[in-house]
Amino acid sequence: MPEKAIDSQTYIEYVKRINDSRISPPLAHIHNYGCQLNVSDGEKMKGQLMKMGFGFTDSAENADLVLFNTCAVREGAQERVLGNLGFLKHYKELNKNMIIGIGGCMTQQSQVAEKIKQSYRFVDLVFGTGSISKLPQMIYDVYNGRKCCEHTENDLSLNEGIEQVRDSAFKASVPIMYGCNNFCTYCIVPYVRGRERSRSPRLIIDEVTKLVDSGYKEIMLLGQNVNSYGNDLEDENTTFPQLLRMINDIPGEFIIRFMSSHPKDATPELIDAIIECPKAAKHLHLPVQSGSNEILDKMNRRYTVQKYLETVDYARSKISDFSFTTDIIVGFPNESNEDFEKTLDIMRTVRYDNIYSFIYSVREGTKAALIEDRTPHSEKQERMQRLLELQREISTQSYKRFEGRVLDVLVDSTGRSGEGSLTGKSNEFVIVNFSGDRSLIGNFVKVKITKAHNWALDGELVED
Ligand code: SAH
Ligand code: SF4
Ligand code: F3S
Repeated sequence: MPEKAIDSQTYIEYVKRINDSRISPPLAHIHNYGCQLNVSDGEKMKGQLMKMGFGFTDSAENADLVLFNTCAVREGAQERVLGNLGFLKHYKELNKNMIIGIGGCMTQQSQVAEKIKQSYRFVDLVFGTGSISKLPQMIYDVYNGRKCCEHTENDLSLNEGIEQVRDSAFKASVPIMYGCNNFCTYCIVPYVRGRERSRSPRLIIDEVTKLVDSGYKEIMLLGQNVNSYGNDLEDENTTFPQLLRMINDIPGEFIIRFMSSHPKDATPELIDAIIECPKAAKHLHLPVQSGSNEILDKMNRRYTVQKYLETVDYARSKISDFSFTTDIIVGFPNESNEDFEKTLDIMRTVRYDNIYSFIYSVREGTKAALIEDRTPHSEKQERMQRLLELQREISTQSYKRFEGRVLDVLVDSTGRSGEGSLTGKSNEFVIVNFSGDRSLIGNFVKVKITKAHNWALDGELVED
C-alpha cells in the first residue's frame, strides 16, 4: 500500500510500537510561543504524542523529541525562537538521537520555513498549524531516517477530533474559530492563519459540556475576532452573541471568557448577551490599538475613536464600572506625538483595568512594512514608558473601586508568598491575592478586598 494512504491512527500505532520497545518511554518537550491559540494547539500536539507512547519533560535538554510551537506576530517572538534553536543545536550535539520539530505560525511563512530548512539543518520536522494530525506520520518518517520538512502553508485544517492533553484541570481554552479576514496593515496573522473558519456550534457545545461535566470552571473561547464567529457557517447560522447564550445555558458552575473582540464588530447585542448571561465574565478585552483616527485608518481597523467609545458607553450604561482591557501598538509608522497623545487620552477616558502594549514591529509581507517610518526607535521607547506610567496611575485609581467589595474569585495557584498564600482572578479578570488552603485551588471563593495595588488586589477569604 502506498504510504500516503495510511491513516493517522495507523501511524500512531507504528510509532507507539517503536516507543514501547524502548527500555523507558522517550520524553517529549513542547515549547509554546505566542497566544492562547498556540497553547491550545500545543495541547493537541501533546494529545497526539501521548497516544504515541511519549512521556513528557519540562526540560528541552533531557528530551528525545523537542517541538517548538512558534509565533510570528512580532519580530521579538521570532528572534526568541531562532535564538533558542541555537541551544537545541548544542543539545543535539550531546544527544545525536534528539528529534527537533518546528511548527506553529512562523513556519506558515514560506520564506521563514525555507530559512529554517536551509540554515538550521539539524531540524528534523517543519510543519504548519493545520498539520497536527500529520505529526505521527512525520515522526514515523524521522524514525525511518527521513527528514520531514513538510511546509504546509496551505493546509489550514481545523485539527478537529484530535484529543487534547490539557495543562489545567479547571481552566480550558476552546477555539471557536481560526484565521482572520481583517488584514490590519501591521499584522501577520491573516497570512499565517488563513481566512476565518468557524467551528460548528454543535461541536463547541459538546466540547464545553464535556469540560464542565468533568469539573472545568473557566471556559475561554478563542478566536482572532470572535465577533465574526459564524459568518462563514452555511448550514448552522449562529452569531457569537447567540453562541454565548447557548454556552451559558449549559448546566453547571463555570465562568465564560473570550478573546479577542474586534471593536468594529462589538455590537449592542454582544454587550446585552454578556450582561444577560450570568456565567459570562463582566469584562471585555477590546483591542483599541491607537487613540488617533488617522492612525486607526492607516491600520485599516475600520472604526473610529467615537464608535469605540460608543461601545464602552453602552456597556457602562448597564454596569457603571464594566471592566475593559485592551491592546495598544506604540509607534505605528510615522505616528506623531499628537497621535500618541490621543492614545493616552482614550486610556484616560476608558480607564482600562489592564493594557497589553507593544512597540510596532515590522512584519515582512504586510502593507505597513512598505511605509517608510521616520519616527526614531528611541522616541517609541520613550512613548512606551509614558504609556506604562499612565496605566499604572489609572490602574491604581481604578482598582480602588474594589476596596471593601466582596468578589468572586477562581483560585489559580499558591501565591508568591508560598504555602498558605493563594492567587486567583476575579470575574473582571483582576488578580486577587489572599490567604487560604491550597485545597481551594480550582474552586470559586468569595474574597473581601482590603487593599488595591496597581497590578493586583489583596483580600481576605469570606465564608459563603
Ligand atoms: N486578533 C486580535 C489580535 C491578535 S495579535 C485582535 O485584533 O485583537 C495580538 C496583538 O498583538 C494585537 O492586538 C496587537 O496589539 C499586537 N500586534 C499585532 N501585530 C503587531 C505588530 N506588527 N507590531 C506590534 N504589535 C502587534
Ligand atoms: Fe491581526 Fe487585525 Fe486580525 Fe487581529 S483583527 S489578528 S490584529 S489582522
Ligand atoms: Fe502568534 Fe500565531 Fe498567535 S502569530 S499571536 S501564535 S496566532
